[in-house]
Amino acid sequence: MENPINKRDLINKTDMNIVIVGHVDHGKSTVIGRLLADTHSLPIGKLEQVKETCRRNSKPFEYAFLLDALKDEQSQGITIDAARCFFQTELRNYIIIDAPGHIEFLKNMITGAARAEAALLVIDASEGVRENSKRHGYMLSMLGIKQICVLVNKMDLVNYNERPFKRIEREYRRFLRKIDIEPAGFVPVSASEGENIANHSDKMQWYEGKNVLEMLDSFQKEELPEDKPFRMPVQDVYKFTKNNDRRRIIAGTIESGRLSVGDEIIFYPSGKRTKVKTIEAFNSGIPKTLSAGWACGFTVTEQIYVKRGEIACLAREPKPKVTGRVLVNLFWLGKKPFVKDKTYTLKLGTARVDVQLENVSSVLDASNLDKIKKDYIERYEVAECILSMDRHIAFDLMADNAITSRFVIVDEYEISGGGIIMQDLEDHTSWVRNKVLMRNYKWIGSDISAETRAAKYNQKATLVLVTGEKESPRKEIARTLEKQLFHDGRLVYYLGIGSLLYGVDADIVTNDMVPYNRREHIRRLTEVSHIMMEAGMILIVSAIELNQDDLDVIYTGIPPERILTIWVGKDKENDLPAAVKLSGSEGIENSVKIIKELMTKQGILSYNGNNNRGF
Ligand code: GTP
Ligand code: MG
Repeated sequence: MENPINKRDLINKTDMNIVIVGHVDHGKSTVIGRLLADTHSLPIGKLEQVKETCRRNSKPFEYAFLLDALKDEQSQGITIDAARCFFQTELRNYIIIDAPGHIEFLKNMITGAARAEAALLVIDASEGVRENSKRHGYMLSMLGIKQICVLVNKMDLVNYNERPFKRIEREYRRFLRKIDIEPAGFVPVSASEGENIANHSDKMQWYEGKNVLEMLDSFQKEELPEDKPFRMPVQDVYKFTKNNDRRRIIAGTIESGRLSVGDEIIFYPSGKRTKVKTIEAFNSGIPKTLSAGWACGFTVTEQIYVKRGEIACLAREPKPKVTGRVLVNLFWLGKKPFVKDKTYTLKLGTARVDVQLENVSSVLDASNLDKIKKDYIERYEVAECILSMDRHIAFDLMADNAITSRFVIVDEYEISGGGIIMQDLEDHTSWVRNKVLMRNYKWIGSDISAETRAAKYNQKATLVLVTGEKESPRKEIARTLEKQLFHDGRLVYYLGIGSLLYGVDADIVTNDMVPYNRREHIRRLTEVSHIMMEAGMILIVSAIELNQDDLDVIYTGIPPERILTIWVGKDKENDLPAAVKLSGSEGIENSVKIIKELMTKQGILSYNGNNNRGF
């Protein structure tokens, strides 16, 4: 049996995504079933078939069963997601997203899996406003869904009386006002009886407003955010290796704005810059311009190293924010509360970073908007809090671009919360990051690409950081490593951190009056290392007891995946992230052997055209 809505109709007419929300059992699925039936959007014979099945099993017919019957059918076609249903009016096609359960719905909404332009919020006339009626309303406001129509359902249970309807309307309007939502309207309906869904019920003559379908048709179509600045989170970087094809395609989905051939692009958070050479889109050939909503790839004129998680932006448009500390509005769903001193994963666009809860400014119970004072966040609570990440990411603020301000938090593989970024805050590497952004922006690229260099020297330019306790033999290990690699024919250099002090660092005065400016010293070491690595070198640096702050500065200037950190010292339990921890008693030769083995394993000592170590 064929579904009367085919793909072509969907393309020719304007579509609108609607989400339906509300407390358990208030009648969401029944409303959808009715909408499908009354707009003749069901496959021919479907309604009769489901009714017949109910009769045979002596089960009362429910409109909600239609959805299950459709799901079974649709799950065979790969294009349709089981939670979506389609129906149409004269004006447009609707895609309505049902919430199978409270948690699933919230997860879908937060992750953006269910992106809706408008919402129907269902309240049972006999039960009245319940916690989830409010929670869902709050979520809609938090996610920026402004077009909301409230259906007061099951009016048959209150004898189609105006009073209970008005009471619910008054109470819920008051709530919506607090969260800044002006509803499109309140419609008294009976989904199971089909009153005021597609008709004008003669059982409720006192109601003179629109029915549900008319309400839907009165919603404004939200334009794709084409007029906002261009944002494309980098999904992947593909490299062609055949026939000396040097092209690299940067792929992703355009979230907002538009991209044209010749545009100057800057990737954030790295600040790297290049120009669009060609645009390629699936099924659409080689367009000159593409806009929001397209999954596409583009090639660039200068071969720069960018990776998944960065956001491509246009040089001439407003920049996104870049930092590792943010003020957010967050909704928590996890069974375990969101607590301080625990590491979670934050996902925004295609970026994934470690994140910690730094401070809770305020907690709200979303079902009654009461403020609670505490420093952790429990299930179903909404909080304003500060998050601090282990690396910086690029994003926009909610007020500027909702899509690229939305994130989720993962706790042990489970999506446990999500929200939107309200403000970017300074973090402890902001000072160096701004310098690195400028360095990358102004960097004068060589005509010899990083790949060509790596192929010639048969090695991947890498910073080997040998650090550890004062008494440890880290220097000897570093120097012996240099000697051995050199005699193996490698392009390698050993740089003692002290070598910078009187040359590169000569202007950083250190005396009794001025404390040693460690962070600037580390920044300069990073810049020198960066230059030598650009030259294709394996650079070995030894330094006493680098700490996490130092590493954060170094990671800001050089991608962490191009750094190999070795710790030498008795205290092997420290939390410095090192690829290898040596106690120092292994012996120099043996230590060097261990490091060389690791370098071989990581592909540093060979070049196979693979770009996974950072070109
Ligand atoms: P969940 O998906 O479990 O959250 O429920 P839901 O909101 O989808 O509710 P559903 O549509 O499954 O309806 C719940 C019950 O309410 C069913 O038994 C319906 O038959 C009944 N119901 C729905 N609409 C009406 C109505 O207008 N009048 C009456 N009397 N019952 C209704
Ligand atoms: Mg349901």
